[in-house]
Amino acid sequence: MIYVVGIGPGDASYLTKAAEAIILSAELLIGAKRNLESIENFKGEKVELGSRLEDLLALLRANRNKNIAVLASGDPLIYGIGKYLSKHVSKDNLTIVPGISAVQYMFSRIPLDMNDLYITSSHGKKPNFDRVLGYPKVAMVTDDLVGPSQIADEILKRDLAKVILVGENLTYPDEKITRFKPEEITHQMKFNRNVVVILDEE
Ligand SMILES: C[S@@+](CC[C@H](N)C(=O)[O-])C[C@H]1O[C@@H](n2cnc3c(N)ncnc32)[C@H](O)[C@@H]1O
Repeated sequence: MIYVVGIGPGDASYLTKAAEAIILSAELLIGAKRNLESIENFKGEKVELGSRLEDLLALLRANRNKNIAVLASGDPLIYGIGKYLSKHVSKDNLTIVPGISAVQYMFSRIPLDMNDLYITSSHGKKPNFDRVLGYPKVAMVTDDLVGPSQIADEILKRDLAKVILVGENLTYPDEKITRFKPEEITHQMKFNRNVVVILDEE
């Protein structure tokens, strides 16, 4: 069986008991370096996930008789490996184990309900800002190319009344959550790994 296991935003206290039990009973653990390092007490084989997803499929095929846990940060089905594996692995051989998403955690810290939230990502793409900024409540997982400053630019370009909340290094000791008006964010500002929440100004 292949388990795709959400391990939460980072700190081990946000790993669910179900996720922990499956990870510790797996024979093979696959994941990004940061995710593998976050798992303590695992005695079996660990393989670091590369950027080529075809290689992951080959590895899964080669170990088809083992119990395999593929680690995903946060929740596997929120901009994670769960989407790819649910398309490429037979449903009979796949179990997705949900985790607490960085997005969910961020909303708990603001705090704000997630009702009618539009969730999106800037990973590997330029978001359609005309559409994204049309929603009153948005959460975006970001990459290095499109983050808080680029989002602020897009808001200012359209002269929209929005506020931006940036959640960096969520659950870690250096977690930082900052509320900005778009004009307060400059390109000189450096942000660590972050979730951005964009809200209509009240
Ligand atoms: C590929 S997405 C994975 C999202 C993940 N599946 C989830 O549900 O949280 C990676 C992005 O999630 C966000 N992220 C994940 N963990 C985070 C954390 N601890 N603090 C801030 N942002 C985080 C960042 O935007 C990061 O670039």
